[in-house]
Amino acid sequence: MLPIKACIFDLDGVLVDTATYHFLAWKRLADMLDIAFTLEDNERLKGVSRMASLDIILSLGRRELPEGERLRLAELKNGWYREYLAALDESALLPGVKDFLLGCKALGLSIAVGSASKSAGEVLESTGIRGLFDAVVDGNAPVPPKPAPDIFLVATEKLGVRPQEAVVFEDAEAGIEAALAGGMAAVGVGSLERLSRANLVIPGFEGVDPAGILRHFASKRSSG
Ligand code: BG6
Ligand code: MG
Repeated sequence: MLPIKACIFDLDGVLVDTATYHFLAWKRLADMLDIAFTLEDNERLKGVSRMASLDIILSLGRRELPEGERLRLAELKNGWYREYLAALDESALLPGVKDFLLGCKALGLSIAVGSASKSAGEVLESTGIRGLFDAVVDGNAPVPPKPAPDIFLVATEKLGVRPQEAVVFEDAEAGIEAALAGGMAAVGVGSLERLSRANLVIPGFEGVDPAGILRHFASKRSSG
């Protein structure tokens, strides 16, 4: 079995507390459309592209709208989301993230971001962590969205590693599916109940040592 050489991180809800902002902006849109939309419903939107997220909300309200109107609503949501981003700084990094990333680098691992968001570059700049990454693949990449594995596969290509040499960190079910479909190891960041398909689940990065993650996968691999 191949040793782990790289870590690929989802952005929203894994590195930065922006998942809440996506939810608040979608909630505002759903309220405007008079469609009931809960935090539980929102779990289905995590990791999913902007237009696919809108379609899930419309399906909750059993609405069908023409393409032009759907684009207008998605743009409206994005405008509200980007209002939240205007105030973003390093304090939005989730607990333990900075130390974990620095720990990966100290171990000689390559690190990348693999996000569905078209605003990923801006979020990385505002939070001051862009310079830590060897590669960034975001929602502007011309590839199919998660749960297709392509965003993460492009990241492994950019890092020059094989998929089997990479661990993906994800808070979304769609992202876990994408990692597994691409032949990568998947670490769920969040609740075990929701992310049970992952190879390993951690509640967050606080107090988590990257060397421990490597040891976990090394022992799994040597025991077959
Ligand atoms: C993902 C989020 O990272 O990016 C989703 O989990 C979001 O909630 C998706 O819809 C697309 O983001 P954006 O910024 O391009 O609308
Ligand atoms: Mg996410």
